[in-house]
Amino acid sequence: MQQALEHPAPVEQDFLPLNGTDHIEFYVGNARQAAHYYRTAFGFRLVAYRGPETGTRDRASYVVVQNKIRFVFTTALGPDHPISGHVRQHGDGVRDIALWVDDAERAWRETTNRGARTVREPETLQDDQGEARIASIAAYGDTIHTFVERRNYHGVFLPGFSAIEGEDALARPVGLKHVDHVVGNVELGQMNHWVDFYRDVMGFRMFKHFDDQDISTEYSALMSKVMSNGNERVKFPLNEPAHGRRKSQIEEYLEFYHGPGVQHIAMATDNIIETVSALGRQGVEFLRVPSTYYDDLLERTGPIEEPIQELQRLGILVDRDDEGYMLQIFTRPVEDRPTVFYEVIQRKGSRSFGKGNFKALFEAIEREQARRGNL
Ligand code: FE2
Repeated sequence: MQQALEHPAPVEQDFLPLNGTDHIEFYVGNARQAAHYYRTAFGFRLVAYRGPETGTRDRASYVVVQNKIRFVFTTALGPDHPISGHVRQHGDGVRDIALWVDDAERAWRETTNRGARTVREPETLQDDQGEARIASIAAYGDTIHTFVERRNYHGVFLPGFSAIEGEDALARPVGLKHVDHVVGNVELGQMNHWVDFYRDVMGFRMFKHFDDQDISTEYSALMSKVMSNGNERVKFPLNEPAHGRRKSQIEEYLEFYHGPGVQHIAMATDNIIETVSALGRQGVEFLRVPSTYYDDLLERTGPIEEPIQELQRLGILVDRDDEGYMLQIFTRPVEDRPTVFYEVIQRKGSRSFGKGNFKALFEAIEREQARRGNL
C-alpha cells in the first residue's frame, strides 16, 4: 500500500512565524577537536569562540559556518556540569535546534501557553555589538529549541562570543548551503505525540507521512511523519521504530543515544557531485548501496542531468516524484556510538525525502548494524 503524499494545506494562522533555523548546538566531549573535524572534513569555517579566554569559566564553544549553516560545538570544563551529564548519557549529540524569530518573547509565550515546557525564560544578552533576545523550550528527549531574536545584534554570533579574525586556514568549503531538514528519532508509540506537539504547540503542519509498508526491509521498519513550519524552511521528520523481525535502525539509535534525539541533519547543495567528491577526499565516509541499484535507475527516475557513472562512483541515490527529482547520500555515523549522521541533498524540483530509496538505503544501514553486532 502506498500512502498518498500529502501536499500542505494553507496555514490558517501562522502563530509562530519562524524565519528559519538559526543554529544547531551540539554538546560534545571535546569541542576543540569536534570543530576541527567539521572544518577540515565538512568544510565549515570557524567564526566565533567563547571560553575561559573570553571570560566564560564553565564551558567552551566553537561556532562554525558554511553559507547559511551554523553549528556550535560546546563542551563543559568540569565533571558536574549539566553538559557533562548530557555527554555521558548521549555521547556527542544535538542539544539545541535553535530557531530564528523576530520576537523571542512572543515565540516563548505562544508555545508555553500551548503546552511547551520552559527550559530558559526570555533573556536579553548584551555586549558592545548590541543585544539579542533568547528563550528555550523542551522538545523530544533532552533536545531543546531556543528562539533567537537577533535584529538588534550586529556581532558575528551572539553576545559573549568573540569573533575569529581573518581567514580560517583549516576550512575546506564543500558547497553545503543550508539545513534542509533535521530528523528526530523517538520511542515506539511516541511519534504521534511529537507530531501533535509540532502541530499544536509550534503551529507546524504535516508535510508527508510514510508507514511501515513504505519503509520496511526484511528485518526492520520504521514509521515517519514530516512536520513543516509555514514557510517550509524548517522541516522536522519524526521517526519511531515499527515492529520488524529484528532490531530496527531506530531502536539501535535509541539504545545507544539512551533516548530520543536528533538522528540526522540534511544539508543542501547545488552540486551534489562536487560536494560529495570533496567530502570524500576530506575523509567523510558514506553509506554504500549495491551497484545493482544503478542498473535500472533511469527506468525508475526517468531522465536526469547527472552522469550515472559519477553517481554510481560516489554512491549518490536518486528519487523522483510528480514535482521533480532529488539526489541524496548519507554518511556513516560521525561518532563511535551509532547515532548522529548527515545527509547531503540536492533538490531538483522534488520536495520529497527519497521514499524510493528507503529500501536500498535501509538494507545498507542494516549491513552496517550487522557489522556492529546490533541487528
Ligand atoms: Fe533525511
